[in-house]
Amino acid sequence: MNVLGICGSPHRNGNTAYALQRALEIVEQAGIQTTFISLADKHVVPCNGCFTCQSGACVHEDDMGVIYDAIRHCDGLILASPVYMGLVSGQMKVLMDRCVLFRVGGTFQLSGRVGAGIACGGFRNGGQELTLQCMHTFFLQQDMLAISDGPPFSHSGAAIVGRAASDEIGLRTVDNIARRLAAALQNRSSR
Ligand SMILES: Cc1cc2nc3c(=O)[nH]c(=O)nc-3n(C[C@H](O)[C@H](O)[C@H](O)COP(=O)(O)O)c2cc1C
Repeated sequence: MNVLGICGSPHRNGNTAYALQRALEIVEQAGIQTTFISLADKHVVPCNGCFTCQSGACVHEDDMGVIYDAIRHCDGLILASPVYMGLVSGQMKVLMDRCVLFRVGGTFQLSGRVGAGIACGGFRNGGQELTLQCMHTFFLQQDMLAISDGPPFSHSGAAIVGRAASDEIGLRTVDNIARRLAAALQNRSSR
């Protein structure tokens, strides 16, 4: 089993990367392999809406090729984004749009995979919830399952405010989505 974490921040070692790497460490402690991809060092151009992907491949020849492969081979996917103007970063949105390829032509290649989101904003009420909803909606549109942070808080998912390393409550929500994602994958494989 493999859980892929994709970081949508332009900062290779910023708050979003910190929270995502912590989530991946928890997944690894549960005995599941992980892969980390940062969009900070990837060149991914926006979808041009041509739908050439209906015949199998995207027309763009950029770093999305390796990301497509990583997504194809993962069982669980954690999307982590900084909050930009109340929503996911542009980098994360471009990635999401390019993933239309997984659901064209009447097939849903990611059906039944498990997804979780992490949103890191500078401020309380900065748009973490809407950012998480964007990522959850992406999972639903890919016919995936979405994981929340669950008890004891059970609100909208993993949300960080300010400096990730100092946000104790936010980090508990990160830990919770990671544990719950690992448990969901393990329950499934034991059936
Ligand atoms: C263009 C831009 C827009 C931002 N918009 C918001 C916002 O709407 N709400 C918020 O809470 N923080 C906002 N921030 C702050 C970042 O979300 C915050 O600093 C975050 O921790 C950055 O994550 P990183 O260190 O992984 O890049 C914005 C930052 C930038 C650069």
